Amino acid sequence: MYCVRNVTDDLIWIGGNDRQHPIFEAAHPVPRGVSYNSYLLLDEKTVLFDTVDRAIQTQFFENLDHALDGRKLDYIFVHHMEPDHAATLGDLMLRHPEARVVCNGKAINMIRQFHAADPKNAILVGDGDTLSTGRHNFTFVSAPMVHWPEVVVSYDSTDKILFSADAFGTFGALNGILFADEVDWERDWLDEYRRYYTNIVGKYGPQVSALLGKAAGLDIQTVCPLHGPVWRKDFSKIVARYAKWAAYEPEVQGVVIPFASIYGGTETAANILACRLAELGVPVQMHDVSVTHYSYALADCFKYSHIVFAAPTYNNGLFDPMEHLLRDLVHHNLQNRKAALIQNGSWAPASGKIMAGLLEQMKDIELLAPVFTLKSTLSPGQEKELEELAQAIAASVKGSAAPAAREQAAKKPKGFVCKICGFIYESDTLPEDYICPICHRPASDFAPLE
Ligand code: FEO
Repeated sequence: MYCVRNVTDDLIWIGGNDRQHPIFEAAHPVPRGVSYNSYLLLDEKTVLFDTVDRAIQTQFFENLDHALDGRKLDYIFVHHMEPDHAATLGDLMLRHPEARVVCNGKAINMIRQFHAADPKNAILVGDGDTLSTGRHNFTFVSAPMVHWPEVVVSYDSTDKILFSADAFGTFGALNGILFADEVDWERDWLDEYRRYYTNIVGKYGPQVSALLGKAAGLDIQTVCPLHGPVWRKDFSKIVARYAKWAAYEPEVQGVVIPFASIYGGTETAANILACRLAELGVPVQMHDVSVTHYSYALADCFKYSHIVFAAPTYNNGLFDPMEHLLRDLVHHNLQNRKAALIQNGSWAPASGKIMAGLLEQMKDIELLAPVFTLKSTLSPGQEKELEELAQAIAASVKGSAAPAAREQAAKKPKGFVCKICGFIYESDTLPEDYICPICHRPASDFAPLE
């Protein structure tokens, strides 16, 4: 039985929700499920916008059959080849051999890789190419690395609709709603949007900024992402968040304390620090990284301006759950934060040095104080030292708020963009012999980021 909703008179959401698989992309818990969005346009030509994850293929094909209502499928726009959107593309091509795949060159290679199939009569599109389906006119806009290199978004200039691929999506099943204005977005959805963005595309801030720049030049009335609600009102709300996240700018002047504690000593120190900070009027969040999945702590490290990492020494190294979080922050390019470290070690504390080394791999992370060390448990008098640490952090949170915000607002990403595929090389200078890792073009095909 079909389960669909109309986006507009001739555009139908034919996706579905997966609430049965607790882990997304083999990494991220999705306790609220996740939606895989697909859309069908009934113009003079029919157009399918992406397929879905295999988990919901039965629902998807029933939806497609219902929405087509006997019409043939003319086009399949492939915006993104990750299997959560393209796993059913192979089956679709078998069911609808009449349909022409519309995608770019990188996507067609991935179709061959994932599906061992070569789409017949595919239409290859590049940045700025257009296609008319009757009443609707589409322009394709490259969005490489948001979230894979082949990603393209398409813009329907007739109804002002942006099909945005992973951008502006979220974790969370749709539970009957389709539009973001049908929910209390800030209260019920913002945290999951942040966790989705930071964990899935957080590494690619400059590329997301480039897409935001391209989108700013379009009159967008509706945004159809591949996960989560459709935006038909207040699109600026999510754009404003994306601008901060992509620039690695904190949303909240406050402190997140990711901590790990084997026998409670480190946790007590983290708790005391949190109490002193709260008493000083500083917003505080805590995550026990042995208990809470690192994706939640990572999202809050993007959210807050200050981070205190507190962890014990283990096997003469850093306790694994904290090492996992810190390595993930390195991989996601977190930057521009102020930090402090608490280490514990009953005979040879070493976790602080390792945490500091990992922080050095990130850009613009400032340590506000020497590593705070406890041995097993806090010794008498160390609560005073924690109070002093809290005061130093609070002074930074309060004192730096306005200048930091101004500094961030004025800061533009530095680098060079490949004019062929959009890859961004982050640096002040571009080596003369540089070769684009995505499309293998030389440095002469790069232009400075504006
Ligand atoms: Fe939702 Fe990058 O796939």
